Amino acid sequence: MKYMFDTVNIKTIKDLSEIFPIEGITSNPSIVKKEGKIDFFKHFREIRKIIGMDKTLHIQVTAKDCEGMLKEAKAILDNVDNKVSIKIPVNEEGLKAIRILKSKGISVTATAIYTKAQGLFAMEAGADFIAPYFNRMENMDIDPREVITTFANMIEKYNYPTKILAASFKNIGQVNDAFECGAQTATVAPEILQTALRMPAIQKAVDDFTTDWETIFGKVSIADL
Ligand code: E4P
Repeated sequence: MKYMFDTVNIKTIKDLSEIFPIEGITSNPSIVKKEGKIDFFKHFREIRKIIGMDKTLHIQVTAKDCEGMLKEAKAILDNVDNKVSIKIPVNEEGLKAIRILKSKGISVTATAIYTKAQGLFAMEAGADFIAPYFNRMENMDIDPREVITTFANMIEKYNYPTKILAASFKNIGQVNDAFECGAQTATVAPEILQTALRMPAIQKAVDDFTTDWETIFGKVSIADL
């Protein structure tokens, strides 16, 4: 069970890394858009410096055809580093690109997955990660729990090396469900992780314990006893 951060905000990545065990960083063009017109490759090199080479960094192509996807993949690998996992949407052009990248030993994250068929095609094409879009599936009345369970079963049954990197969450309950269904990894927006630990009930428990302590000992820290 591993968490990735679905953000490219440098400060957020630094801050969250001190709280959560980070497995990697995922991005897509909409996530990049939130940072404005960044110096694209430099920004990702900076992220790599923060997370280190042993974590995974997932960067998505924007081209719509296979040739363009391959050119962009090369630019990313040349200008960021050759360990980046290239995110490719699973459609016809994407599947062609995934096969070619895998034949060259490049790490691939198959993304924009809404259906079982897309995930299975990507697994068969050799994708290292498949990213089922949990919340977007629910919005379309597709059951993401069933889809992720099928992926997990197929990976186990046929011994695929592919990992499920569940994505597109709107709350922490969905993240927990994805793990229960067999996702090894989930990429989560920082706000969702923070909200999960900022429930008023948690703060109230902490405040009540402090009040009880102070009733007996006053405002003295255990460290100063
Ligand atoms: C991963 O990086 C996915 O692209 C991302 O989780 C999609 O999230 P969204 O459905 O909130 O756009």
